[in-house]
Amino acid sequence: MSFLQEYDSISTNDPSAQAAFVIKWLRGNPTAMFDELRADRPIFINPVFTMVVRATDVLDILSQHQLFSVRLNAKSMDPAVGPFMLARDETELNWHEKSIMRAVLRHDDLPRLKAFVGSIVTSELSTSEGGLDVVARISRLVPLRIVQSFFGFAAPDELMLKWSFATQHAMFRNLGGDPVVERACIDAGVEMRNWLWPFLAAKWADPGLSDDTPVDRLIRLSRNCDLAIATDRVVSNVCGLLVGAIETMSQAIVQSLEQLLQRNDVLPAAIKAAKDLGSDDIHSYALEALRFNPITAMQIRYAERDCQLGVGTPYATKITRGSRIAACTGPAMFDEGLFREASAFKVDRPRESYLHLGFGHHECLGKYVALVAIPETVRHLLSMPGIRRAAGDSGKIDFAGGPFPEHFSIEWDQAKLQ
Ligand code: HEM
Repeated sequence: MSFLQEYDSISTNDPSAQAAFVIKWLRGNPTAMFDELRADRPIFINPVFTMVVRATDVLDILSQHQLFSVRLNAKSMDPAVGPFMLARDETELNWHEKSIMRAVLRHDDLPRLKAFVGSIVTSELSTSEGGLDVVARISRLVPLRIVQSFFGFAAPDELMLKWSFATQHAMFRNLGGDPVVERACIDAGVEMRNWLWPFLAAKWADPGLSDDTPVDRLIRLSRNCDLAIATDRVVSNVCGLLVGAIETMSQAIVQSLEQLLQRNDVLPAAIKAAKDLGSDDIHSYALEALRFNPITAMQIRYAERDCQLGVGTPYATKITRGSRIAACTGPAMFDEGLFREASAFKVDRPRESYLHLGFGHHECLGKYVALVAIPETVRHLLSMPGIRRAAGDSGKIDFAGGPFPEHFSIEWDQAKLQ
């Protein structure tokens, strides 16, 4: 039976069974579920949320942030990191703080970032003989070092990884609203802010602060009364640099690499692109690979008013105020209206069509950091001679029952390196 046949056979008087069934498919076989919904029920109201899977409707939702707001994010974000831009729409907080954060995440840092990422990856590869676990050695380490050394939020490794895991898990992967996951997020956020206060206070107390990291730029800017960014707002935004960066980039590196390594028809060209230091074609390979296994397939929104979705289509659907909406960017990237020959792996697509980093008012703040760090990491890994997935289960992504990749092993021909 297909997903919809089985779902429709569940009694409408049993919303818990319907919800459990939707979550089971989302975790187990989202691609088949999304394909069927895109073809047969593009707006699918169920007890978990209203899923919207066609590109036009997804873009419609993400473009109307006053109608489809991010207010639901406040439940996990506010107690953990304080009020934050991704839980506020069209507010002074969002307008003001996103501008300041964009100003400190400077474009002219990107060439240095690229070299920094390259140095981390090559150092790890040079101390490994013929293979490694990408998650344990590379994919978490790259964003961890970016946050510590490049952004300038320099807490100990163990704490940062714990804070990052707990906050990302509750804020973006806790569909069932597990209270244990929520509690761990709040505890991590409070601990992170408590760690940050004295760290940042020492910087505020230093009139000669001269490092050129985004955190130090933020401290210097916060002293300017025209910018009027209060100290607690600095703390929340520094937290955001960590929450947004580590597990997201780790997962993107692993999933994009795995897709490339498992496609024999694409891999030789991807390796050629990786080794061509004069071109950035590897970016297109990484973005396209991620389309086949995106790190996040949906953005959650809240309907602020009664309205209609799919206006003018046969599937136009009334949405009631207070509905939880899942704007499914993952399946939208397989909509022929946005991605021609969507099932084919093509690297000549416009890069701005991809929805990996969100769309509209809440488009990712770390977009350009991610768009440098992910392909650059993939480039170095694909450049190893005879690069391949490790044999057996260790060459498959292992989530170890959790929300993020924990293991994924690769191998190469060590002898050819000599
Ligand atoms: C692979 C890496 C990344 C992915 C896939 C990713 C994905 C996303 C997505 C999909 C959104 C939109 C969420 C929504 O509309 O509900 C978003 C927003 C955001 N991201 Fe990222 N992100 C990544 C890296 C980063 C990094 C490195 C940072 C930190 C510099 C960051 C910080 C943020 C922030 C602060 C927002 C909220 C922006 C706003 O509300 O206006 N992200 N990200």
